[in-house]
Amino acid sequence: MDQIVIQGGHALRGEVRTSGAKNSALPILASTILGGGEYVLTNMPRVVDVLTMGKLLGMLGVAVSHDGNRTVVQAHGITSTEAPYDLVRTMRASVLVLGPLVARWGEATVSLPGGCAIGSRPVNFHLAGLEKLGAKVEIEHGYIKATARRLKGARIYFDTPSVTGTENLMMAAVLADGTTVLENAAKEPEISDLAEFLNKRGARIAGAGTDMVTIEGVTALHGADHDVIPDRIEAGTYLVAGAITRGEVTVEACRPGHMEALLVKLRESGVELLEEKERIRLKAPGRLKGTNVRTCPHPGFPTDMQAQFVALMAVAEGTSVVTETIFESRFMHVEELRRMGADIRVEGNRVVVTGKERLTGAPVMASDLRASAGLILAGLAAEGTTEVSRVYHLDRGYERLEEKLQALGGRIERRKGK
Ligand code: EPU
Repeated sequence: MDQIVIQGGHALRGEVRTSGAKNSALPILASTILGGGEYVLTNMPRVVDVLTMGKLLGMLGVAVSHDGNRTVVQAHGITSTEAPYDLVRTMRASVLVLGPLVARWGEATVSLPGGCAIGSRPVNFHLAGLEKLGAKVEIEHGYIKATARRLKGARIYFDTPSVTGTENLMMAAVLADGTTVLENAAKEPEISDLAEFLNKRGARIAGAGTDMVTIEGVTALHGADHDVIPDRIEAGTYLVAGAITRGEVTVEACRPGHMEALLVKLRESGVELLEEKERIRLKAPGRLKGTNVRTCPHPGFPTDMQAQFVALMAVAEGTSVVTETIFESRFMHVEELRRMGADIRVEGNRVVVTGKERLTGAPVMASDLRASAGLILAGLAAEGTTEVSRVYHLDRGYERLEEKLQALGGRIERRKGK
């Protein structure tokens, strides 16, 4: 297995370009199952999850070809309605094919995603919503089996905003008979991006990006091209890389408006930021101040930036409290950071971090995608060598992270495993 090896303690300087958003690319790809012909998708991140979604679509009979950051999809018909366990267990976002399959092809057999390193992550909202739209949903032998003739519009309320839940039901409702209203919907920019793509294809969605999304069903969609929005979590990770190494970094091709909560918290901790239209310039004047953070659904502070922010707070001055309200066990990086000398205490769903002047490099193990990023950032700031293993998590969602950090002067390399 590959490892990332970092010689820490060097300030990052320079410019780095953001790739397309993984969490936009995945639902956009899944939505091509709704049919409509040919799609040319650009600014697609070259990450393993996108390849996995392409493979899943291929198994269903949708032709997907990738060429760098451009993906061409031919969605004329399908040959299967089953998303098998062996694939779904490698990527939970596979559940995004459920809504489109039922809406367009009348049936879906999708493996129920199992447990996950960051929390239990049920899909009950997706299933209850499909039932409200008139589908028959059963769980059999570990699979979700959903069938419907034509879905019917309905009012659906989310107890908690769910990103992929909102996306799945929005996609299903696009071809339903009548109007669907999603209430207390998630408001992430990736949901707006998906809605924009669907509307280009003839869907009638209003309110995406707010907590009430209204979808007027149509009978068919047509082909369209789309440029995926920048990845706000990747961009945020580079900002923290600049901050944690007390450097000066310009993040290009990003949308500052998608990252406000993070920018507020970075400023609060003492970072200087200059926001331009599609660029953020960061300067970290020295050691930062401890800052409290609470993860929340968008536009709150993203849970996908929590591990990186904990790493930053581990070298800030004073005490900070980071509260995780989205996923119950998303603190697997904490024990690893402690191995690097961090002073962090877990208290239920929050961590209390007492910043240290320096961390020390150590061999550490990544447990999920964002934890990997947090450990790499800590490694960039630490004295000596950090070896991060299990980096396959990282490759699921960051495009060429080590190359981009190298270009900023980070002493980081990938050691190929056998
Ligand atoms: N929830 C339920 N029932 C459901 C669905 C969600 O109880 O049916 C709960 C979850 O357990 C959680 C909360 O609702 O407590 C929110 O979860 P959500 O459904 O929004 O998460 P998700 O859609 O499974 C997406 C991202 C995650 C990101 C979360 C939160 C994609 C493909 N994944 O997951 O991204 O952490 O939203 O913002 O969009 C990542 O990229 O590293 C990642 C994990």
